[in-house]
Amino acid sequence: MRITKELAAELLLSGQVVAIPTETVYGLAASIHNPKAVDEIFARKGRPSHNPLIVHVANRDDCLNVISTHPDGLESLIDAFWPGPLTVVVPVVTERILPQIRANLETCAFRMPNHPETLALLQQVGPVVAPSANLSGSPSSTCPEHVERDFGADFPVLDGGACHHGLESTIVVYQDGEWQIARLGSLSQEDLEVVLGYVPKIVTNSSKPICPGQLLAHYAPKATLLLSPTAKEHPNVVGFTDRLYPAAKRLFLLGSSTDPIEVANRLYSILRKLDQDGVEEAWVDMDFADNGLWKTIKERLSRAASR
Ligand code: TXA
Ligand code: MG
Repeated sequence: MRITKELAAELLLSGQVVAIPTETVYGLAASIHNPKAVDEIFARKGRPSHNPLIVHVANRDDCLNVISTHPDGLESLIDAFWPGPLTVVVPVVTERILPQIRANLETCAFRMPNHPETLALLQQVGPVVAPSANLSGSPSSTCPEHVERDFGADFPVLDGGACHHGLESTIVVYQDGEWQIARLGSLSQEDLEVVLGYVPKIVTNSSKPICPGQLLAHYAPKATLLLSPTAKEHPNVVGFTDRLYPAAKRLFLLGSSTDPIEVANRLYSILRKLDQDGVEEAWVDMDFADNGLWKTIKERLSRAASR
């Protein structure tokens, strides 16, 4: 059910959960001060309690005032990328943030979304937690229709149209004296390098990831995705608009192989479409660049293919 910003504010303030648009993906929002509403988010998504949530703020002080120790360079990152698709994981004064939001960690993740309506909503209702608005394990929602498919037509959604980026925020954490990438997202390593002055390490693939959520099966359609070039004769192909796939019977086009912004934007819709069309197996054309946003796209497709 599409709702106005005014109704979204009313529902959030009365302890209900609503879906909100951001520039990355839709979020399932609840006030950070309402433990019951926060618990409801975990229940609705089917999300394990050991996977913490991101606090979304409209004012940087809502983050800075609860930090226990300031990591070097935090302000420069915030100056450069907020509002925008950067999430920072920082140590917090634990009494100030509900334990279930942090999954009992002594850190908390924060971001300031770059979406005018949602920023105005947050100004009105204060900070909210907002995990991606999808059932745990399925691709994030990049438009209101995806949210309604996962949570039902009656679920309240603040309609912000299609998301600008279509991939989640990039999550960074300060450890061993440097900023590291705990989840690649809409910001690339190169984007961060410009501000940091060094290339931040990507630490998502370690056996003990910093983001508990990275351990879980994620972003995956029900369809089996084949990534090996040897499967390229498969009748179902996830590929690019500027290439030919002569053996293909059904084509799922991500966009141009030279336009990572377009591909990022369409990726989750295409993964969801495979399921809507009842596709059981498809080959994915993974022959594309390995820099910038392409790295995130490659990571998401690899996750979507692994079970
Ligand atoms: O773009 C986004 O970030 C979207 C929109 C709605 O803002 N949100 C989003 O939230 O992707 P979610 O819950 O789907 O993913 C958050 C990730 C999880 O992998 C979680 O483990 C990690 O952030 N995370 C949250 N708090 C953390 C913490 N204190 N330490 C380490 N990882 C944390
Ligand atoms: Mg998610």
